[in-house]
Amino acid sequence: MHSAEAMPRQATAGPIIRVEQLEVRFGDFKAIRGLNFSLAPGELRFLIGPNGAGKTTLLDVLCGKTKPSSGTVRFKDNWDLAKFQEHQIAQLGIGRKFQSPSIFATLSVLDNMLLALKAQRGLLRTLLAATAAGQRERAIGHLETVGLAHKSGLQAGALSHGEKQWLEIGMLLSQEPELLLLDEPAAGMTDSETEKTGELLVRIGQTQTVIVVEHDMEFVKQFASIVTVMHEGSVLREGTMEEIQADDQVAQVYLGRRTERHDD
Ligand SMILES: Nc1ncnc2c1ncn2[C@@H]1O[C@H](COP(=O)(O)OP(=O)(O)O)[C@@H](O)[C@H]1O
Ligand SMILES: [Mg+2]
Repeated sequence: MHSAEAMPRQATAGPIIRVEQLEVRFGDFKAIRGLNFSLAPGELRFLIGPNGAGKTTLLDVLCGKTKPSSGTVRFKDNWDLAKFQEHQIAQLGIGRKFQSPSIFATLSVLDNMLLALKAQRGLLRTLLAATAAGQRERAIGHLETVGLAHKSGLQAGALSHGEKQWLEIGMLLSQEPELLLLDEPAAGMTDSETEKTGELLVRIGQTQTVIVVEHDMEFVKQFASIVTVMHEGSVLREGTMEEIQADDQVAQVYLGRRTERHDD
């Protein structure tokens, strides 16, 4: 949990995210229907649920990619996110990682990080070390966090799938987001990469608020504290992994559905 001293931007006693009666319609279809959700600063929250439950759509709303059809989405009890564009929401401090990485394959790992630093939020750019040496130091610091410092000179395109995902998380950290949104960060990874990703999330979760959408129950079991289960566009249950696993309704909608699917 952040203390007020450690977080000069905007001390918040209340939730960092508060979603009330959210609805998102695509034509006649309601992808999100009457969703209520809130998140305390400092939490590492896992979001699970069957395919089509609306998990990605919720992240899309939180980062401004998709606008609510109705309902409210507040950031730090202050900002009504429906009123802001995607790039403005990034500036407010919400960083989003998408499923496919958007790194520059022909540039080195370090240069990718330096580019991400140049794109960091306006206020911070003026406050933090703007010298080349200072930027390099910060970039390497973030590479250490994601476990890629020893590969900083390598072309990003030569990284493994898992390493590319970590690089992108490192690039997101350069923006110093207060809230990090990660959509299936371990998708397509090897077992050992998945393990490392879980450890990375826990590490990042110590300094930032994080929402992780995840399909892999084993992964969630291992690393989650509080889990939110979504189903048909709203929140079905919220609790510890033990509570979620013991819940009959969750077993029906989530685990029941999963056995019909073989592609994830
Ligand atoms: N742009 C869109 N247009 C129409 N339907 C969409 C769009 N985006 C998502 N959906 C639908 O909304 C539902 C929720 O999708 P999504 O949020 O991607 O679910 P999840 O991430 O939980 O698998 C799905 O039925 C999906 O087909
Ligand atoms: Mg999704």
